[in-house]
Amino acid sequence: MTWADGCLKLIDQRKLPSHLEVVECRTYKEVADAIRTMKVRGAPAIGATAAFGVALGALEHRHATREEFVSAMQIISKELAATRPTAVNLFWALERMEKVVESKQTEPVPSIVDALIQEAEAIATEDIETCKQIGAAGALLIADGDGVLTICNAGALATVDYGTALGVVRAANDVGKDFHVYTAETRPFLQGARLTAWELVQEGIPATLITDNMAGWLMQQGRVQVVIVGADRIAGNGDTANKIGTYTFAVLAHHHQVPFYVAAPLSTVDLSLESGKQIPIEERSPEEVTHLCGQRIAPAGIGVYNPAFDVTPAELISGIITEAGIIRAPFAANLAKVFRTS
Ligand code: MRU
Repeated sequence: MTWADGCLKLIDQRKLPSHLEVVECRTYKEVADAIRTMKVRGAPAIGATAAFGVALGALEHRHATREEFVSAMQIISKELAATRPTAVNLFWALERMEKVVESKQTEPVPSIVDALIQEAEAIATEDIETCKQIGAAGALLIADGDGVLTICNAGALATVDYGTALGVVRAANDVGKDFHVYTAETRPFLQGARLTAWELVQEGIPATLITDNMAGWLMQQGRVQVVIVGADRIAGNGDTANKIGTYTFAVLAHHHQVPFYVAAPLSTVDLSLESGKQIPIEERSPEEVTHLCGQRIAPAGIGVYNPAFDVTPAELISGIITEAGIIRAPFAANLAKVFRTS
């Protein structure tokens, strides 16, 4: 994503890999629509995009009185928060923006607007640095000859740049490690087939696309030495919500004694939730399951269940790769410790 002169430019991720199209958002409503309709997706990307949405909303109200401005910002924040429920980075970013309004509410509106733009830019810049730190910490987990399995897209497209799980892959590739990535297609929205495969091809990283139901067989054949996935929300005990199918991979990895890592910034950790049971799981439209590229593949009248995420229990997770290093069990104590010291 790029931001310049009151315009947020985003790659329309729904069009990849066949079309590389950029959408321009000039209003906060366009930003809310971009998140809701998955033009932009991936937890850190959603957070940074929402922050720019607040900045655009602030620009739209720059001529309002201070009272009008503050109440407009509350409405805007609420509207952006209602776009998607699971990735906590959205709420984390909106809270950062709300704190700016709170701390500046006695200042003239134009200076609150400037401060909001600066905060959105800071969130975006920090995200790139954070992903690079995650990459550097996680690259040590990949050895020459390894097969690395991932799901969904936790790459540059899902962040401001570089990626989390794919940031680890990128960093390992940058230091010359010789390994092979398996990207699962990630039904029903196909983030793995469309987006991760696209990023891996762009980077020239050796990779193979599999369908989700091939992961167990791949592990049984000894072709996967490590699983690395992203996260949408990590509860205080380490339970992790990520793209639907992640839990299945974690169970398979446990059975085959393959280490299973989550790569995520600390902004994805939600210490207000004790366990993963409290994470809200988004359910998306039945058409994502009954249709493929606009073509019906299941009979009309069939019932559909389409949860976009699942929760992997902490006991199946070998470690959480963050900008503060790799956090291991006991997760509740070690996550709390990281937040006390960071
Ligand atoms: O529904 P999506 O595409 O927004 O889901 C994204 C994921 O589940 C990613 O794995 C997660 O957000 C990590 S992105 C760095």
